[in-house]
Amino acid sequence: MIRGEDLTVAYYADIHVLQDVTVEAAEGLITCVIGPNGAGKSTLVKTLFGYLSPNKGSVYLEDSDITALAGQERMRLGIGYVDQMHSVFPEMSVDENLELGAWTFRRDSARVAEAKEAVYVQYPGLDKQRETAAGSLSGGQQRMLDMARILMPDPSVLLIDEPSAGLAPKIAKEVYSDIIRLKDQGKTILLVDQNLNQAVRISDYLYVMEFGRVSNHGPSVDLGDDLREIVSSWLAVT
Ligand SMILES: Nc1ncnc2c1ncn2[C@@H]1O[C@H](COP(=O)(O)OP(=O)(O)OP(=O)(O)O)[C@@H](O)[C@H]1O
Ligand SMILES: [Mg+2]
Repeated sequence: MIRGEDLTVAYYADIHVLQDVTVEAAEGLITCVIGPNGAGKSTLVKTLFGYLSPNKGSVYLEDSDITALAGQERMRLGIGYVDQMHSVFPEMSVDENLELGAWTFRRDSARVAEAKEAVYVQYPGLDKQRETAAGSLSGGQQRMLDMARILMPDPSVLLIDEPSAGLAPKIAKEVYSDIIRLKDQGKTILLVDQNLNQAVRISDYLYVMEFGRVSNHGPSVDLGDDLREIVSSWLAVT
């Protein structure tokens, strides 16, 4: 379980991009955060991972307060973060990209090798292209490599920001299947998504963020009907 409690975050002075945001991703479930552009979704995920420090509020992993820990330390505790921006290193091979995912235990070469093989079993498409430069993979394969790299330390909690952004629908579907597969492995997943149909379909619990606040939340099956109204309000023109 990862929990952000009463998080208030500003990039500049006291202009709060997040205001008293509380979210919890329960163990073994997919929790999805949705909301219009600029609502603060990525800011929330970065704060949960430790790339941003909250002005107020706390982040908990199970019962431990991890607010003061840096991203690297959170990684060691089993949290993985998949950035909204594609973050493969294009000139490095698939294999080298995976090694970067093992940075926190890079001196343990046996563990690095073992982690790589475990990840290649899960991503056979990458296994066939170990020596290929990441930049020459297709967009979908690069997203898979992003996921595979984050899985190298075998995290128990995954924070995934807009995994299907910019991908063709067919490829996006594969990404969602992959996320469901990770849930079935018992991972705790916090997903940020603008693809509302998929977000409702694959998540167990939904948070709606608007203007830096949580405006609604509940089990995805219960929220379904209200969502039509919520989403239409994002598009409303006066
Ligand atoms: N580094 C930054 N410095 C200053 N303001 C920022 C920075 N990053 C984001 N913001 C602002 O904070 C607000 C929330 O941004 P954030 O990226 O968290 O939203 P989002 O919900 O992830 O949006 P999107 O759906 O477009 O990814 C926006 O108004 C944005 O312009
Ligand atoms: Mg974002």
